[in-house]
Amino acid sequence: MSEILRKQFLRHIAQTSPAPQLIEVARAEGVFFYTPEGKPYYDLISGVSVNNVGHANTAVIEAVQRQVADYMHIMVYGEMVERPQVEFARLLAETLPEPLDSVYFLNSGAEAVEGALKLAKRYTARTEMISMRRAYHGSTHGAMSMMGAPEGEEWKGAFRPLLPDTKAISFNSFDDLAEITERTACVLCEPVQGEAGVCLPAEGYLQALRQRCDEVGALLIFDEIQVGMGRSGEMFAMQKYGVTPDIVCLAKALGGGMPLGAFVSSQKIMSTLTHDPVLGHITTFGGHPVCCAAGLAAMRYLQENRVVEDVERKGALYEELLKDHPQVKEIRRNGLLMAVELGQSEKLYKIMDFFIEEGILSDWFLFCDTAFRISPPLVISDDEIRDSVKIIRRCLDRL
Ligand SMILES: Cc1ncc(COP(=O)(O)O)c(C=O)c1O
Repeated sequence: MSEILRKQFLRHIAQTSPAPQLIEVARAEGVFFYTPEGKPYYDLISGVSVNNVGHANTAVIEAVQRQVADYMHIMVYGEMVERPQVEFARLLAETLPEPLDSVYFLNSGAEAVEGALKLAKRYTARTEMISMRRAYHGSTHGAMSMMGAPEGEEWKGAFRPLLPDTKAISFNSFDDLAEITERTACVLCEPVQGEAGVCLPAEGYLQALRQRCDEVGALLIFDEIQVGMGRSGEMFAMQKYGVTPDIVCLAKALGGGMPLGAFVSSQKIMSTLTHDPVLGHITTFGGHPVCCAAGLAAMRYLQENRVVEDVERKGALYEELLKDHPQVKEIRRNGLLMAVELGQSEKLYKIMDFFIEEGILSDWFLFCDTAFRISPPLVISDDEIRDSVKIIRRCLDRL
């Protein structure tokens, strides 16, 4: 990378941390991205669970190019009939369990969460909103209010006041379910917690959560922004666990690499956004036709190529090849989303540097800095898994 570009990046691109990774990207293909000097990196993050169909997927590129040439933005969301939006919404409705058949498209995960929370308040006419400790739902005010970080103040304190009438309960605590009451508008829950460092639901927990919400008339909202679109080994994690929420939030891989989010509910619940007040939720760019064309092509690609059917086997292969390394304390895994636990943050910071030297892009988790992430594009081949594990093990040996 040229020194000038590096300086301009640091000077003019708003910085989010004191230590950006500072790798220049020239192009990306499949499970790799390349620097201008031609150094390949294994992308083992997929842009944080975005590039499920791999980089430069030709089905997505062609869909985007066609749609860009036909039309881009015409009018704010919900007024015009735009074919890519309608066809994608229909495919999502066909694939999700009943009664999730009404799709509100937005631009990002946080926006999907915002919309879902508003819908729950509007539908139930209640105000209390409950989330899970160690949950991440986005960085806008509403989504951040639902961030149940362990030491919440560390993340949220500087931004208060946030939304009132919110509280967090512990994921997997059956006792805490009693805190959900007739006052509760909704419970927002990732079926598998991502940024907590891949925490799986305890046996029967999501079922008990569903039952408690039904008992008190609270809406259950699943955040499948990170685990949806095939990463869990089913198209949606709710199918893996057999629990259907009242609303599901989607984003990240939903747009096939383009920015797209959505919250999906039943027509009965969703229709409350049309009256009292009219236009209960508004977006200019949500459901942009180019993003919907990309997302539709990506989802069809996953289905036509039976990609999701192979996700669990590929995840198990990674686990098998890594678990006996003496530095690996534990592997927590949901399909192709893995946290490889090293037990110490010092080791994690070290291995991140070794990874960059050796051509691996990994990451840690917002609320867990003792484990590194493996969440490659779902199209990764067995040879690529074996080869990337060789490099990872070499880095582990250096700890
Ligand atoms: C589970 C979950 N929900 C919501 C979000 C927020 O998505 P976005 O960054 O698109 O706003 C994220 C992002 O990491 C996430 O992992």
